[in-house]
Amino acid sequence: MHPHLLLNISILCHFAGISGQYPLVQNVTVTEGGTANLTCRVEYNDNTSLQWSNPAQQTLFFGDKKALRDNRIELVRATSSELTISISDVMLSDEGMYTCSLFTMPVRTAKAYLTVLGVPEKPEIDGLTKPAMEGDHITLTCITQGSKPAADLRWFRNEKEVKGAKEVNASGKTFTVRSSLQLQVDRNDDGVAYTCRVDHVALAQAPQQATEVLEVHYAPRVEIIHSLAVPQEGQYLKLECVSKGNPSPDPVMWTKDGGELPDLDRVIVEGRELTFTSLNKTDNGTYRCEASNHLGTSSAEYVLYVYGESEFPHTTQIKYPNALGQHGTDHALIGGVVAVVVFVTLCLIIVLGRYLARHKGTYLTNEAKGADDAPDADTAIINAEGNHAHAEEKKEYFI
Ligand SMILES: *[C@@H]1O[C@H](CO)[C@@H](O)[C@H](O)[C@H]1NC(C)=O
Ligand SMILES: *[C@@H]1O[C@H](CO)[C@@H](O)[C@H](O)[C@H]1NC(C)=O
Ligand SMILES: *[C@@H]1O[C@H](CO)[C@@H](O)[C@H](O)[C@H]1NC(C)=O
Ligand SMILES: *[C@@H]1O[C@H](CO)[C@@H](O)[C@H](O)[C@H]1NC(C)=O
Ligand SMILES: *[C@@H]1O[C@H](CO)[C@@H](O)[C@H](O)[C@H]1NC(C)=O
Ligand SMILES: *[C@@H]1O[C@H](CO)[C@@H](O)[C@H](O)[C@H]1NC(C)=O
Repeated sequence: MHPHLLLNISILCHFAGISGQYPLVQNVTVTEGGTANLTCRVEYNDNTSLQWSNPAQQTLFFGDKKALRDNRIELVRATSSELTISISDVMLSDEGMYTCSLFTMPVRTAKAYLTVLGVPEKPEIDGLTKPAMEGDHITLTCITQGSKPAADLRWFRNEKEVKGAKEVNASGKTFTVRSSLQLQVDRNDDGVAYTCRVDHVALAQAPQQATEVLEVHYAPRVEIIHSLAVPQEGQYLKLECVSKGNPSPDPVMWTKDGGELPDLDRVIVEGRELTFTSLNKTDNGTYRCEASNHLGTSSAEYVLYVYGESEFPHTTQIKYPNALGQHGTDHALIGGVVAVVVFVTLCLIIVLGRYLARHKGTYLTNEAKGADDAPDADTAIINAEGNHAHAEEKKEYFI
């Protein structure tokens, strides 16, 4: 750099520093539709004029003189040390670099950037089928337009945050933000509220949100609740058929052992309740209740065994046959155990048989011969008896 130029710059700075005669401005951020104040200050000023101009270099105010016809732009204060103007109902197009000029010789300027925030529109949730069927795959999409900078979208399932897939597209100066949530709905989603919330700097105090409540239809599920653990003769027993489905199932149907319920005074059916006022051993049997809606039918069973006074089991550890549908499982378990025992026994017999065969080839061969040679069954027996002596040999091997 040329030494003279350096000197000049330092003199200029020195002079400016002492006099303080230069404009000072600050960047301004305003929300769309709001009002922005643009302030330009000069610490020490003779009566040198100040001016504000917009990003298009148009003069807005020259001192207290309005230069541009725009009702939104007004003078707030004009003194020798300050020129403040306001822009109301700010639009996105107002954004840009504004210049404050101090008409000294040479002219000194300061630049203030006006940032306009785009307010996101109220979000909208799409993609909801009402009602949805249990198992349906649905994609909820939340969209908000007009944000600047791009808004953040967050999903909540009954207040608890869940992760969505966000996508941001620019459209002009603002952004369109979309967030989607993929769900496979089940009965637990029925009545659940999904909320999409917009977080944005222009919504500091009041975040915008949209909420949709899922309605899920599902086939009923039935359960029988009983009032006694050990039903005894003469006791009161209530069986309640609890069914849950959406739409709510039609009235439940009670049957006994696959047929109609016996028509007895002691047995009262009232909606989902089956009541025995006084149990009798003849009430034994499998009680079944069934509920259905247009999506399906479901049933539950209760096996009633009425204990007599004398047979009442005294140990508490006894496993009562009364159970809710689990009786099938118990049978399966016993069957399984029996199958394993039979299998193991068979294996032992085969192993033992092979062992014996290896060590007693002669005996087996002879016996087979007796049977092969015989023209009929009787002879075969005789032949076998003829070979009876060999049985003695067999005994020896077993000892
Ligand atoms: C702008 O300045 C005026 C006058 O000083 C004040 O009343 C108003 O609150 C200011 N507006 C903003 C947005 O700062
Ligand atoms: C500025 O102008 C006013 C009136 O026009 C005058 O009274 C004042 O002395 C001037 N100040 C300076 C520093 O020139
Ligand atoms: C004002 O905004 C402009 C443009 O965004 C930036 O370059 C500058 O550093 C900002 N000035 C201040 C003091 O923040
Ligand atoms: C964003 O742009 C892509 C491709 O340009 C388009 O497929 C997508 O639908 C757009 N998304 C939104 C939210 O507008
Ligand atoms: C059970 O029912 C039978 C026939 O209905 C009746 O004879 C008997 O007295 C009843 N037993 C009890 C304990 O009520
Ligand atoms: C009650 O049930 C038991 C076991 O299922 C059965 O042995 C008995 O005969 C039944 N009694 C009557 C009266 O049905």
